[in-house]
Amino acid sequence: MKAKTVKGNWSLRTKKVELSCVFLCIFFFLAGYFGSSFIDHSQEDEYDLRLMQRSRGKLLEKSKEETEHRLLNVGESGDNFITSIPYQILSLKPRALYFPNFASAEQCETIIEIATKKGLTPSAVNLPPGVPQESTRSIRSSSGAFYSVFDDKTGVLDAIEEKISKATQIPRNHGEDFNILRYKVGQKYNSHYDAFNYGKFDPRNSQRMASFLLYLTDVEEGGETMFPFENGLNMDGSYGYAECIGLRVKPRKGDGLLFYSLFPNGTVDRTSLHGSCPVIKGDKWVATKWLRNQELEDYLTGTSN
Ligand SMILES: *[C@@H]1O[C@H](CO)[C@@H](O)[C@H](O)[C@H]1NC(C)=O
Repeated sequence: MKAKTVKGNWSLRTKKVELSCVFLCIFFFLAGYFGSSFIDHSQEDEYDLRLMQRSRGKLLEKSKEETEHRLLNVGESGDNFITSIPYQILSLKPRALYFPNFASAEQCETIIEIATKKGLTPSAVNLPPGVPQESTRSIRSSSGAFYSVFDDKTGVLDAIEEKISKATQIPRNHGEDFNILRYKVGQKYNSHYDAFNYGKFDPRNSQRMASFLLYLTDVEEGGETMFPFENGLNMDGSYGYAECIGLRVKPRKGDGLLFYSLFPNGTVDRTSLHGSCPVIKGDKWVATKWLRNQELEDYLTGTSN
């Protein structure tokens, strides 16, 4: 009897266990089913969001950057996104940096169009008072035009100027108007400094501290930007300023070149001497932006030159 009771209790317990097991199984099954479908939905939502962002193009790049780099709170004048502009150091004496793919082919073509419409005039050279420009043709034979972002309705120069400011971390109102230059076959610019020599020239209220060159065309042969004194070479007084020697940068459409004419202490870096080698084959177009060490007061009127 005792055993029976035990058995009966046992079978009753077993039934209870079985029953609760079934309920638990159903519960977990349902929970699992709805749970997994809930997770699926949230994944789908995320995926949709990514698709939406992908279709918005640039926004995706921005959000990718935001997940790779943890952003900080910004001040009133800051950006809530990461800027990354790739560059290669070409030289430390002078400080010269190369920016591959700085501008698109379309942007380069638009800038050439803008300059062509305005018309180019023979390029000038900054000279001491009393020296006529006509005497400089053998030094600088290119033609060009100054162009302000305020004259450009396409917005391309504005975008390039903004990017130059980000790349150099020099505010936009330190930049002179774009000097858009064309060098035809045989044309060149002998080696010179972009910084003004206070001894020989009128005292200026500001100095050119850096130059940013945007190459607008590929040049088949010649037309390199040269730095004859790179790393202190050829500085023994024998250099004649026309010879194409030293560090030579071959123009490539859309690429940028930045170099500094001043040391951080404001004195002129003698190794920043540079020139444009004669074009041998092809056509060289370049947009130059000279960056001053002080704000240009007339920046907003677009007449900084
Ligand atoms: C300015 O800096 C350069 C490079 O570091 C140095 O050679 C030069 O002596 C400095 N000049 C002055 C006046 O401090």
